[in-house]
Amino acid sequence: MQLGKRGVAGVVILIATTGLVQPLRSQARSDVEEGRKLFAGMCVTCHGFEGKGGDAPSLNRPKLVRAPDDAALRALIADGLPERGMPRVRRLTDNEIGELASYVRSLGQTAAVTAPGNVQQGRETYTKLGCQSCHIIKGEGSSLGSELTEIGRLRGPEYLREAVVDPGARLPRGTLPIPARGFSEFLPVVVVTREGREIRGLRINEDSFTIQVRDTANQLYSFRKADLSRIEKQSGKSLMPSFSDRLSKPELDDLIAYLSSLRGAQ
Ligand code: HEC
Ligand code: HEC
Repeated sequence: MQLGKRGVAGVVILIATTGLVQPLRSQARSDVEEGRKLFAGMCVTCHGFEGKGGDAPSLNRPKLVRAPDDAALRALIADGLPERGMPRVRRLTDNEIGELASYVRSLGQTAAVTAPGNVQQGRETYTKLGCQSCHIIKGEGSSLGSELTEIGRLRGPEYLREAVVDPGARLPRGTLPIPARGFSEFLPVVVVTREGREIRGLRINEDSFTIQVRDTANQLYSFRKADLSRIEKQSGKSLMPSFSDRLSKPELDDLIAYLSSLRGAQ
């Protein structure tokens, strides 16, 4: 046993001195390879191909807010972040956790995809189209839709493009964390009172006897169900209008670049 160990160490020194460091790194490289396979099976649906981001944050960044060091990264992979929309996928062995961690760190060394487009122009387009009438960025705007202060960290560019062009496509998105409100399910509803008044909005809360609705003008209503003649839940529909007809291709690129640049306090 002793002899064997010394033998291996001898080989390593020999290789290192001849400049052929390849075999030394191959262990780490096979960890990354194994990690890639595990990632493709368990993580890619949320974090995107090669960690480029999708419904969940991109991971091809050198600094991960929630995983500043290796211990934090391993703990996060082992336990998930259930309260933030990352469930623990399954019980992982220490080995698998190490492989996944190696792979995630390797992603941080590849250049992050930057969205084409001009951030400053995108900011202007955002204001011109009135996005702030339904969204808050850094405390400004109205809160019918999700808070967008950190949206560039939480979602990849492809997802953002789809959210603007085809808002209904991926509903319910509300199962993902909405930073300002914890888990909010954006369920559009139409309620009609016994007097025939119709209110369209989002369901904020509901119990057996009452329902609270916020309309598109951001007005909050609370109804006793006994006073309503109809409650229509429209799951799969978005209250956000599609902007596909109102944006040229370059304007859309600018807008996505702007949204991608929103990374909270980072
Ligand atoms: C169901 C979707 C989902 C799956 C599956 C998932 N994640 Fe996540 N993950 C998230 C979300 C959402 C966040 C963002 C949490 C936050 O910052 O609010 C996140 C955050 C992370 C972070 C921290 C990113 C940062 O910016 O700090 C890492 C690292 C990570 N996930 C790795 C993984 C790995 C590795 C797997 C596979 C074992 C995985 N995730 C599977 C949804 C998912
Ligand atoms: C009439 C209100 C309304 C307007 C105007 C509006 N949105 Fe939205 N938006 C919403 C709602 C509500 C949601 C939540 C999910 C859903 O219902 O589609 C949403 C979701 C989103 C999302 C996805 C957020 C997430 O957490 O995944 C993005 C990105 C977005 N909007 C961007 C924009 C941009 C950019 C504009 C302007 C071009 C805009 N929105 C205009 C209501 C609006």
